[in-house]
Amino acid sequence: MTSQTSLQLKCVECGEIYTDGAVRYLCGCGDVLDVVHDLAALRGKLSLELFDERLGSKASADRSGVWRFRELILPCDESSIVTRWEGNTRLHCSSWVADYTGCDGVVLKHEGDNPTGSFKDRGMTVGATVAKHHGARTVACASTGNTSASMASYASLAGMEALVFIPDGEIAFGKLAQALAFGARTIQIAGDFDDAMRIVQEVCARESIYLLNSINPFRIEGQKAIVFELLQDLDWQVPDWLVLPGGNLGNSAALYKGLAELRELNLIESMPRIAVIQAAGANPLYTAFRTGAPLEPVRGASTLASAIRIGAPVSWKKSLRGVLATGGVVEEVSDEEIMNAKARVDRAGIGAEPASCATVAGIKKLVGAGVIKASDSVAGILTGHVLKDPDAVIKYHGESLEGIHSELPNAPLRVEATLDAVMRAISGSE
Ligand code: F0G
Repeated sequence: MTSQTSLQLKCVECGEIYTDGAVRYLCGCGDVLDVVHDLAALRGKLSLELFDERLGSKASADRSGVWRFRELILPCDESSIVTRWEGNTRLHCSSWVADYTGCDGVVLKHEGDNPTGSFKDRGMTVGATVAKHHGARTVACASTGNTSASMASYASLAGMEALVFIPDGEIAFGKLAQALAFGARTIQIAGDFDDAMRIVQEVCARESIYLLNSINPFRIEGQKAIVFELLQDLDWQVPDWLVLPGGNLGNSAALYKGLAELRELNLIESMPRIAVIQAAGANPLYTAFRTGAPLEPVRGASTLASAIRIGAPVSWKKSLRGVLATGGVVEEVSDEEIMNAKARVDRAGIGAEPASCATVAGIKKLVGAGVIKASDSVAGILTGHVLKDPDAVIKYHGESLEGIHSELPNAPLRVEATLDAVMRAISGSE
């Protein structure tokens, strides 16, 4: 038995605690589980200075923007860690984004800087490490694209087979290309993400394949490091708001859990308010937040932001818990708002995939509604790289996205191969 598998798991709904270290994704009551750290044992032993000292270290675990915070991620033998030195992602400030959102104090943490181009690598380094400890030969996930790209890469690193279930024709090409390139056996399901999620759980239960979706509580542990590293980037100053997109809702759940643990250890003095932004066509958490009713899945979820085209999010209770505990909000934005926000993020020279830019569209909308004040400090998470979904970019700039008015189009100019024609095009007379 290794130390990390002896961490307790606790049901978010009925409170049942599991201490046997067995592979388990759900409680007997059917709800999701949290990893429980022994915070009492860590109190007084952990300091922000320790995390800062590790920034200058060349040790492998310290070079990772996840394992640098390892006591709060997964206590384990450092030689067993499956890492690509993920994290260490950039913070951006931009006048394009400040002007667009109406808020000067916006910083964007770009998780697209991760090894496979999305925040999923932070969860996957931990998930793959635990999979290896359990002796898994095959790992599997359902995905709108980024999880599969990340899992395929980390499975290769750990010498495991990767089995990926994706909704047929619904994932962006950059992501599909990664899964194929990294060697994942890729099954295109004639259905949506929610179908793929249901089937992968059935397959894993039947075949003893290790499941690496964010329903796996160890994935969430790694993703907490986004907020640990963000606060470290900000010299441990807590912003007023933390804003991020919501799909399957593992990430917002993770960020809240990480913040709550830092707070309980007295390592931070306040909590940011968490704003989860959903696409209007895939907005079950938004509806649950507005009505106060339990989440009703959205059938046939639809949005151009394919990463968050999810109608039945697995981690909604954990996510809503964080929103409510921090006095946060859930907002929805239209595809047009997402794509025009994306055009600004892209034009700023930062670039991010559509789902990421729900963050910026959401900040703009919440500032407009007076929920976020223009003077507030706001940290937004950009979740994936601009090159994940080139199709969305090309169509936006060609003004060929159905039902979307492109506010900032930049189509290529087609000219004859003569100097005259080129000069006319450059001077704008054609
Ligand atoms: N942004 C991007 C770029 C994503 O890929 C995802 C989720 C999200 C936001 C939403 O995060 O699910 O934790 O609320 N992508 C998953 C996938 C579903 O399969 O790659 P969430």
